Amino acid sequence: MTGSGNEFDMARTDTSSHKLSDAFGNTYSNGGNEGAGGASRDRGKPAGTDPIDAVDAPSSRSGLNSPGAVKDLTKESESYTHGHHESVLRSHRRRTAANSAAFLLPHLLSDMTLLDVGCGPGTVTVDLAERLTQGSVVGVDASDDVLESARGLADAHGTKNISFEHANAYELPFEDDSFDVVFAHQLLQHLSDPVAALREMKRVAKPGGFVAVRDADYDAMTWYPESAELTEWNMLYHEVTHAYGFEPDAGRRLASWVRDAGFDPATIEPGASVWCYATPDDRTWWGGLWAERCTQSNFAVQAKDSALADDVALEQLAQGWREWAAAPDGWFAVLNGEVLARA
Ligand SMILES: C[S@@+](CC[C@H](N)C(=O)[O-])C[C@H]1O[C@@H](n2cnc3c(N)ncnc32)[C@H](O)[C@@H]1O
Repeated sequence: MTGSGNEFDMARTDTSSHKLSDAFGNTYSNGGNEGAGGASRDRGKPAGTDPIDAVDAPSSRSGLNSPGAVKDLTKESESYTHGHHESVLRSHRRRTAANSAAFLLPHLLSDMTLLDVGCGPGTVTVDLAERLTQGSVVGVDASDDVLESARGLADAHGTKNISFEHANAYELPFEDDSFDVVFAHQLLQHLSDPVAALREMKRVAKPGGFVAVRDADYDAMTWYPESAELTEWNMLYHEVTHAYGFEPDAGRRLASWVRDAGFDPATIEPGASVWCYATPDDRTWWGGLWAERCTQSNFAVQAKDSALADDVALEQLAQGWREWAAAPDGWFAVLNGEVLARA
């Protein structure tokens, strides 16, 4: 499931330096030879959609509008982009400690206590608990529905050293210095103030204990064959998450956020790893679930509520995902940033 995406990153960068006409009739340019961050961030953006000139600007993309409807959401009211539609849970349920927390595993001792913040349906959480045979694990999440699913999974596995609680990552209901390890997987990208959450994670970790975080970086995702619809999907995902105050390119920022949260820089171990989907089964699973997510998940609702896309455009993106999944040479890599630090 893992591998290096370097040669494909280069191929895509090269491709994106050319103007590209997509199925929606738009011509894109990546904005020339800017530094890595700037060039990649603007990759494929239609001219004139920078936030400063985008407000109320009519879109040239059919059914896909410019990001003008920026919401003013507070931390208390922020809304998890994906929601917990079955297509989202199908993605999360594939996750294991091995494919999602490999950077942490060498540091675990069997008697440790671990907190998993934003545990979702708990597949990684349960897996970690099964490794901490003399220790214990608590999973917390802001969604009661997903916590029920996590409890069901732990019961089905007969995992006894685990509990799940409703909690907000910004206000963890634990004393200072409670856990040997505080872990968050694919959470910080969904928070408007990831540094505040990291401070809270640091607070509940024991002095010298581990805080471990891992998040995808959407702008660093890369795929083959080229697909105008997947390029549109990636742009729309950025627009929707930015409209709601979140950072989809979290992976590259984790080390910076951890520093800002007050961790000793000498203890920070930054890194990265990749999920790669290219086998027929993986393509069917990944392409199929994103096709559904484009039309049926909270992402679709937020895209429409923000007036960034309509049903017709979302269905075109879904069709692009189905076509990618059906391509026998289809390949998709998700770059994940990861950081291990000491509280
Ligand atoms: C992308 S999912 C990751 C789930 C799990 N860690 C995994 O990797 O399978 C993000 C989870 O964070 C939860 N979440 C979002 N905002 C939260 C908050 N403020 N406090 C606690 N959990 C939150 C969501 O409900 C969702 O289950």
